[in-house]
Amino acid sequence: MSATYVKVKTGIPGLDSIISGGLKQGRSIVVSGPPGSGKTTLGLQFLQAGAKDFDEPGVFITLSQNIEEIKNDCKMYGWDFDVLTSKDKILMIDARPFKLTDQSIGKDDSLYRGEQIPFEHLTKLILSSIKRIEAKRIVIDSITVLEMQYSDDFYTRQGLQGLVQALENYGVTSILLSEVIDESHIPPEWFVSSGVIQLRHTRKQDTMERSIQVTKLRGVRHSDHIHPINLGEEGLQVMHPRLTP
Ligand SMILES: Nc1ncnc2c1ncn2[C@@H]1O[C@H](COP(=O)(O)OP(=O)(O)O)[C@@H](O)[C@H]1O
Ligand SMILES: [Mg+2]
Repeated sequence: MSATYVKVKTGIPGLDSIISGGLKQGRSIVVSGPPGSGKTTLGLQFLQAGAKDFDEPGVFITLSQNIEEIKNDCKMYGWDFDVLTSKDKILMIDARPFKLTDQSIGKDDSLYRGEQIPFEHLTKLILSSIKRIEAKRIVIDSITVLEMQYSDDFYTRQGLQGLVQALENYGVTSILLSEVIDESHIPPEWFVSSGVIQLRHTRKQDTMERSIQVTKLRGVRHSDHIHPINLGEEGLQVMHPRLTP
């Protein structure tokens, strides 16, 4: 039977064709991987393609790098986030609990004033951002940083569940970036999201090869192969070696 859901094209060359044409609209998926595997790049590419090619505004929530640094890195790929943000096609939110002030690193009280439940606070911030630009896509970089603020596994899982549910109720297609070092430890976001995509870099002789694996994608036919990815001048590209003669 053919699928009846609305497909959201990621706009990442080679990715849509291994997931039956796109992500399920309104669902949250996790993109997991170690540092340098391409998570942030994938998230930004998804948002810039949405804003530029599919008329889908997007919100980028950063809990790790600062916005100026991200915008600057994007210029290397030819993505002008200054233009996209000025046109309200993209909204970039700095949700880091600690920010660099002129003299020192200070706690950002506007976000975490007496905050006991960071998930709840962040969820409210995200929902108001979505409304502001009528966003259809959202990327959180990273969900791991948020989880670190909890010492209790139960509250982490409940907080994540609430966040995912709120995003799905709003109908936005979300990518939650997740930092994974030890693949034998499965993080809680893998359980609550509707999909998991893993990024890796492995040694291949004397070079490093990046790859992508669609581990879970509820209700979507997808490739079971581990595909090499190329991180080039225009961003990420998923390669299909089996399809080439
Ligand atoms: N213009 C570029 N061309 C090719 N590779 C790049 C370029 N810019 C960054 N990279 C590589 O991509 C990596 C960054 O990927 P990133 O998306 O930040 O990974 P992650 O978020 O998983 O840590 C860098 O460490 C670098 O190796
Ligand atoms: Mg990153």
